[in-house]
Amino acid sequence: MTRMTDKVALITGARQGIGRSCAIRLAEQGADIVAVDQPGPESDDALGSLANSVRELGRAAVVAAADIRDLDAVTGAVRAGVDELGPLDVVVANAGIFDAPGPSWEIEEQVWLRSIDVNVTGTWNTVKAAVAQLNPRGGSVIIMSSTATVKSHAGSSHYSAAKNAITGLAMTLANELGERSIRVNSVHPGSVATPMILNPTTFARLRPDVDDPSAADVAPVLAGRTLLPVPWVDPIDVSNAVLFLASDESRYVTGLQLVVDAGLAQKVA
Ligand SMILES: NC(=O)c1ccc[n+]([C@@H]2O[C@H](COP(=O)([O-])OP(=O)(O)OC[C@H]3O[C@@H](n4cnc5c(N)ncnc54)[C@H](O)[C@@H]3O)[C@@H](O)[C@H]2O)c1
Repeated sequence: MTRMTDKVALITGARQGIGRSCAIRLAEQGADIVAVDQPGPESDDALGSLANSVRELGRAAVVAAADIRDLDAVTGAVRAGVDELGPLDVVVANAGIFDAPGPSWEIEEQVWLRSIDVNVTGTWNTVKAAVAQLNPRGGSVIIMSSTATVKSHAGSSHYSAAKNAITGLAMTLANELGERSIRVNSVHPGSVATPMILNPTTFARLRPDVDDPSAADVAPVLAGRTLLPVPWVDPIDVSNAVLFLASDESRYVTGLQLVVDAGLAQKVA
């Protein structure tokens, strides 16, 4: 428990999936955690459970409900965390959505706008609120992008456009914040075993030939997209990459686009 000792890490989208895994992984290594997720009873329960898990690891946790589309709400959540735990050392701008895929010209306007609002503006809101609260000694900002920036799949233009936008945001921030010893990197997962892809809608899209398909039915399809013989990576594989970028082990790494995808982006179709 030494890689993050006494550092404070803000994580958005922390109630489940990759965000939760990041919160636990960083706490295991000594970080105190400010965990943010969207408002609602489901979040309250999940964030409460996350806080208990972090405290069982001997670290402090502040949880806050905020929709990242709402700058005032995100700013309030960040301030609440900093007031209790001190300035931020690490920001993991992780919250994001992928829903209602379809051909670019058929995607509903509100679906397009929601993807841009959450994935792009929400990430910018997070950064805007958090950079002002970063430790004057420096810090590490990690933007959760996707292999959708390097390998596009038909039907995901609203997501791909958003993830390309925040990758640009990350690289711009790296230029802007380097002189303040703030490193900025993006992480680009391929398929990850979280509710974002392990859900009935995605299963039906990937296996239209099967009635009521399951994860086992889609596994061969996704395994066909990777170099390594696995259909997806686990959240821990992404949070280990985040831990590296958050820790001083990567003290001179900035402007990196770190792909964690079992070879999905490199595979020739
Ligand atoms: N799962 C994958 O295959 C995969 C692949 C590449 C990138 N990613 C990215 O990783 C990140 C985490 O995804 P995940 O797989 O853990 O998905 P997930 O759906 O399990 O978790 C996403 C989290 O973000 C939160 N969130 C969504 N909208 C929000 C909002 N408006 N305000 C606050 N919180 C909000 C959700 O409540 C949820 O806790 C996302 O940015 C996603 O795009 C995921």
